[in-house]
Amino acid sequence: MFVTREIPEAALARLAAGLPDAQIEVHRGPDRIAPDELARSAHGASALICTLADRIDAALLAAIAPPLRVVATFAVGYENIDLDAARRLGVRVANTPGVLTDATAEIAVALALAGARRVAEGDRFVREGRFAGWGPLAHRGRALYGQTVGIVGAGRIGFRVAATLRRGFECEILVHTRDSQGREAAAQRGEAERSVGSREVWEHELGARFVPLDELLERSDIVSLHCPLTRETHHLIDARALARMKRSAVLVNTARGAIIDEAALVTALRSGAIAAAGLDVYEDEPRLAPGLAELENAVLLPHIGSATHAARDAMGMLCAEAVIAELSGRAAPNRLV
Ligand code: GLV
Repeated sequence: MFVTREIPEAALARLAAGLPDAQIEVHRGPDRIAPDELARSAHGASALICTLADRIDAALLAAIAPPLRVVATFAVGYENIDLDAARRLGVRVANTPGVLTDATAEIAVALALAGARRVAEGDRFVREGRFAGWGPLAHRGRALYGQTVGIVGAGRIGFRVAATLRRGFECEILVHTRDSQGREAAAQRGEAERSVGSREVWEHELGARFVPLDELLERSDIVSLHCPLTRETHHLIDARALARMKRSAVLVNTARGAIIDEAALVTALRSGAIAAAGLDVYEDEPRLAPGLAELENAVLLPHIGSATHAARDAMGMLCAEAVIAELSGRAAPNRLV
């Protein structure tokens, strides 16, 4: 078995206990593994635990399966894995849904607050010794309380963000999800719609209104992205979409960077077409679009949505349990294909 990055020790201990005969090799060190080293190291392995930074494409899968039987990704998003190729080659794939919902939703709320109330900018201001005392006109931002929040993607994380902002901040919730044709196409590709519940749950519990994307963009004070990255959602938020948003709006992305055209976002932030952005993810991680880091109205985090001790431990355990299950002839509960 090959693990492409150090993961919590408890997960490795669980693997060792559950598969006593398995040899577990881990790529240790601060950096992600290079693709050619991954191909070499995974050769001969029956199980692979990878991260969202590893590209598990058709060529890699064909080169290592068999004997590869299962890939467990230490992430909920799985756009880096070619599920069709895995299905063709009889390789099972599992991810880590559910256990990182709260952690990621918290970061989305933190970014919404930080963007609206200019928190990171204020922190820099004080550290740089520029704080000369309180001023009536200084550092005014926008309230989060009572605002209209647009959630793009009606899955677990989007729901938790919406619930937090509805119950804690009395926000109005608008939500946009793929149309029924999109859902059908996804179902045919084998991507189960991992929604927390039906439209009725959103409507009854949160008073949410399902609206087309353009209406959501035009009416929301905060737009928070919670959809997976697919061909359909790549650059969903492009220059045209940004132009539809309010000039006072804050855009939050804790999903995947490439859902936003990052160069167009830099232009929009620079020109004041939108007020601020709170980003945890980037189009070409770990690189940032030119100009993004210089913008005061961008709050930038290093992809830490799931980075609580508890969530990361639970993600490791889900990976371990998936591998143990699949290598023992049982279906992992979080099996994707
Ligand atoms: C993190 O981005 C994940 O998909 O788990």
